[in-house]
Amino acid sequence: MNQPRIGVVGATGYAGVELIRILSRHPLLKITYLAAQKLEQSETYGHKISAFRQFGELPALEPFDLERCLDLCDLVFLALPSGISGRLALQIHHAGKKVIDLSGDLRLPKEVYESWYGLASPLTQKDTHAVYGLSDWQAEQIANQSLISNPGCYATAALLSLLPLCQTKLVESQSVWVVDAKSGSTGAGKSPQPHLLLSELSNNFYPYRVGCHQHTPEIEQKLQEESKQADLQIQLTTQLLPIPRGILVSAYIPLCSTISFTDLYEIYQNAYHDTPFVSILPCGEWPQIQSVLGANTCHIALHVDNRTQMLQIFAVIDNLQKGAAGQAVQNMNLMLGWPMETGLSLIGSAP
Ligand SMILES: NC(=O)c1ccc[n+]([C@@H]2O[C@H](COP(=O)([O-])OP(=O)(O)OC[C@H]3O[C@@H](n4cnc5c(N)ncnc54)[C@H](OP(=O)(O)O)[C@@H]3O)[C@@H](O)[C@H]2O)c1
Repeated sequence: MNQPRIGVVGATGYAGVELIRILSRHPLLKITYLAAQKLEQSETYGHKISAFRQFGELPALEPFDLERCLDLCDLVFLALPSGISGRLALQIHHAGKKVIDLSGDLRLPKEVYESWYGLASPLTQKDTHAVYGLSDWQAEQIANQSLISNPGCYATAALLSLLPLCQTKLVESQSVWVVDAKSGSTGAGKSPQPHLLLSELSNNFYPYRVGCHQHTPEIEQKLQEESKQADLQIQLTTQLLPIPRGILVSAYIPLCSTISFTDLYEIYQNAYHDTPFVSILPCGEWPQIQSVLGANTCHIALHVDNRTQMLQIFAVIDNLQKGAAGQAVQNMNLMLGWPMETGLSLIGSAP
């Protein structure tokens, strides 16, 4: 069989570069199209992104052109800003190509998207929802699909931490789940912003978008769907760490019945027994961002506090890998009928 021809649009952004880092080592495909926006003309990828300087087998980087993209690709990754990405994703999909959209544009119903993102939704009445690509949770729903909406980075860490609770009777039905989330600065993309300057961010640590972070409805939507509790809410706090990559989520959940660590551990192990990418840490071990950097992995730790009747759940991911490019490649593998770990064997780079 011919190798599928793969394109990346947004190839110079943080998520796009990480995609190309993974795809360029993937054994079953051919990268045929790389595009971005601020280019006068085509140039070699290694000239633009110096980490690829010695890697001469990539196509030239071009200003985006829809016709060329459709001519040259069977499957396209879109790593573009929200507000641009979803509209293109639908155009490329309507032209018969497979698409994985890394933006938030196709993750939510129209009205919800518009109120949280403050942008016009690209979805029209006739557009069906893209399939939500939380690949470690719902691999079967992603297999053989042609339009995937890749989850947000905070949403991935939060949902992998919390979803196994949804089918248990451990949690108060109308409780608010507290999700305290911290990210490195690449989560904000590469466009220059004053609060991301070295002098603002180094030796600093602060919350942002309190009460209005756009991943809130994405997380609630999935938790409500899986728990069948339409009123389940989260209290999300997003914070910026003075590091380039990585996310740590700490979740605090009130319990309505007691459970031992061993039983909770078993629930989590069972939830993720089909994926090599999610590890549940043994009792008393706590996850570290450093252990997952550069890898498509998620480490989760659990603590049952019998004194306060609370669960504490911690998860770490690399926002550019499991939170973006790694998960997107895992989704591609599922869409194309390949083992989901193909091309994703990178191990975390600690220290
Ligand atoms: N960063 C993360 O951790 C992360 C995690 C999960 C999901 N995501 C999502 O992934 C998407 C990309 O994020 P990012 O952090 O990689 O952003 P980024 O660093 O700002 O990169 C954006 C990319 O899009 C290109 N671009 C912008 N407008 C374009 C247009 N009209 N036509 C063609 N290319 C265009 C840019 O090219 P030029 O430089 O030439 O303009 C650049 O290559 C976003 O939707 C983001 O929400 C990001």
